[in-house]
Amino acid sequence: MNIVILAAGMGKRMRSALPKVLHPLAGKPLLAHVLDTARSLSPTRLVVVVGHGADKVRESVGAPDVQFALQDRQLGTGHAVQQALPLLDPSVPTLVLYGDVPLTRASSLKRLIDAAGPERYGVLTVTVGDPTGYGRIVRDAAGKVKKIVEQKDASEEERRIAEINTGIVITPTRTLETWLASLKNDNAQGEFYLTDVVERAIDSGVEVVTAQPDAEWETLGVNSKIQLAELERIHQRNVANALLDAGVTLMDPARIDVRGTLECGADVSIDVNCVFEGRVTLADNVTIGPNCVIRDATIGAGTRIDAYTHIEGASAGANVVLGPYARLRPGTKLSDEAHVGNFVEVKNAVLGHGSKANHLTYIGDSDIGARVNVGAGTITCNYDGANKHRTVIGDDVFIGSDTQLVAPVRVGRGVTIAAGTTVWKDVEEDELVLNEKTQVSKTGYKRPVKKKS
Ligand code: UD1
Ligand code: CA
Repeated sequence: MNIVILAAGMGKRMRSALPKVLHPLAGKPLLAHVLDTARSLSPTRLVVVVGHGADKVRESVGAPDVQFALQDRQLGTGHAVQQALPLLDPSVPTLVLYGDVPLTRASSLKRLIDAAGPERYGVLTVTVGDPTGYGRIVRDAAGKVKKIVEQKDASEEERRIAEINTGIVITPTRTLETWLASLKNDNAQGEFYLTDVVERAIDSGVEVVTAQPDAEWETLGVNSKIQLAELERIHQRNVANALLDAGVTLMDPARIDVRGTLECGADVSIDVNCVFEGRVTLADNVTIGPNCVIRDATIGAGTRIDAYTHIEGASAGANVVLGPYARLRPGTKLSDEAHVGNFVEVKNAVLGHGSKANHLTYIGDSDIGARVNVGAGTITCNYDGANKHRTVIGDDVFIGSDTQLVAPVRVGRGVTIAAGTTVWKDVEEDELVLNEKTQVSKTGYKRPVKKKS
């Protein structure tokens, strides 16, 4: 089978410099959704018709299995398909999809493909409450499709037809060339309509069949930001329902956003307003508090992530406790039972088994052993203004509050660092390290008093 995706339109109503098909839904361009669905049907040829913003669209797709046909001027859907013809295999049927209709399910397309087989012309239709704006499916007394008439060309009577053309069709390819070449643009919009091919097919004795999708929303297209927002909600609700079906607890299925893939083990619970991006894996019994943003992360069993925690490019082992207000940046690896608490930022660092950094701390470019206690206000000074350096801390180290570790520096296992120490030289195992400071008290001190003006 050939698949042609029409994506040449401008999308004027989006009021955006970005070509319409590149606007993201669930963090991915509309066209990428259609391409993924198309690929799941294993086409032998996959062609995207580009026009407006052609270069941007080509660049965004950048996949070797996709060929592009350029439609310089948008003279109609029939004209658009015509541009793809030279790239198609005439011996197999061609399925036509739309770059701005992102949520069609492969199962619905398969139904259309099966209904049409290799010889018939198939149209995916749907009966709607309000058919305004769509092409109507006109049938004869016996119920056979006669033609499709566009809203602007339809009579009063035809406008009352509630069965509409989704735009998605499948056609034999060998005969398509003659059919498209014979299209006329003597209609209300002055366009070469793909929909007129239905009459050409019937004239040449080809049977026209229809199939319906599982759900109406599968055929909704995006013409405006309002429609994009509506489809985003439909998609997110579908994702939420799939998670619920799989046994995940969602405090409110209307308040979760998944922009990528989210894999969950058993008894995972997710509170409201969490955003998941990229590939996120949550093992059994993970609990996530409200307002967390988690991107490209692997979280181990029994780990608890409290409110307002941000995670990107990081992994946490089992029974870790994170947040509230923790931030894990790329390259962070937390071992089992580690704790990272409020206002703690960790970047490109390893925290060993059971190690804790509970308050107000920056750990960057560090290797921290097991059972280390990182006191409040500890900072690894990893950047000298030109280069980043590593801090290495052994097992069972106790870091007093308000410590600075000036990298590169190594602290041996079992070391105790007194509060307020700046560590800039390596420390041997089991030592106590401190900076000598004196505390001075003076009696009779008077605070300055504000002068009256
Ligand atoms: C089309 C159908 C209509 C159907 C509706 C479903 C025709 C004549 N009409 O109408 O029956 O109910 O879709 O949404 O086919 N495009 C190009 N090049 C062009 C024209 C369009 O690539 O020259 C692309 C657009 O970018 C868009 C798609 O084709 O993705 C549909 O075009 P649009 O102009 O929106 O068609 P409608 O008038 O909505
Ligand atoms: Ca449209």
